[in-house]
Amino acid sequence: MTVHFIGAGPGAPDLLTLRGRDLIAASPVCLYAGSLIPEAVLGHCPAGARIVNTAPLDLDAIMAEIAAAHAAGQDVARLHSGDLSVWSAMGEQVRRLRAMGIPFTVTPGVPAFAAAAATLEMELTVPELGQSLVLTRTPGRASTMPERESLTNFAATGATLAIHLSIHNLARVVADLVPAYGEDCPVAVVWRASWPDERVVQATLGTIEAAVAGSMERTAIILVGPVLGVEEAAESSLYARGYDRRFRPQSAASPFAERSE
Ligand SMILES: C[S@@+](CC[C@H](N)C(=O)[O-])C[C@H]1O[C@@H](n2cnc3c(N)ncnc32)[C@H](O)[C@@H]1O
Repeated sequence: MTVHFIGAGPGAPDLLTLRGRDLIAASPVCLYAGSLIPEAVLGHCPAGARIVNTAPLDLDAIMAEIAAAHAAGQDVARLHSGDLSVWSAMGEQVRRLRAMGIPFTVTPGVPAFAAAAATLEMELTVPELGQSLVLTRTPGRASTMPERESLTNFAATGATLAIHLSIHNLARVVADLVPAYGEDCPVAVVWRASWPDERVVQATLGTIEAAVAGSMERTAIILVGPVLGVEEAAESSLYARGYDRRFRPQSAASPFAERSE
């Protein structure tokens, strides 16, 4: 018996890895974080599977479900939204599984920020303008932020920000970012990226609050930074004609000429 932690992606049932889909289909028990995972994803479960929404359960109750499956020798597909490496609460479950001697695997998923960028048809790194992406959030009722990880500190870098779990806090986000980025800095809010009712609002730091006007709650990501306003940018060196590189040496004298043979 194995517990398979699976990044279930941003919502669309076909934005799962093939491995994730196959593990779900082979597991007679599925525990899913129902606050963020739409029911369509559960269509990958086998007929007759025990399917449990863990949103109303506490950690002890979730582990009791896993212990019962373990006693019955049944594999468990444990689904969390997006990828498991950020804000999934996988860590605390893994620690308990290790203590209980229950084997597990981890399968990554498509994170929300990547789905939002795909919706916007945008690259979030742009030559000369933005080469760093910060995945962050604002403090919540259950989660304080380490002091140095404030939005104002990240803003000082000018990097592109992907702000999670914060749409209810939009006024605070704007107030923290305007001093460094300016009121004209582009912002995109993507709500339920990849869901059938996905919505996008694009504005500036100065106008985003009025544009959203409280119309989005919970499952939204806020992207901020100059790269979001780029229509014309410098092209990357990578594909520039004449750029000497390992896979495209420009002459016999290139230091890459021999290695590419
Ligand atoms: C608990 S975190 C989970 C993040 C997830 N593990 C990931 O890899 O993206 C939940 C937050 O992720 C963002 N999020 C998750 N799914 C989303 C989606 N489909 N569209 C927009 N934002 C989403 C929202 O900011 C939401 O408040």
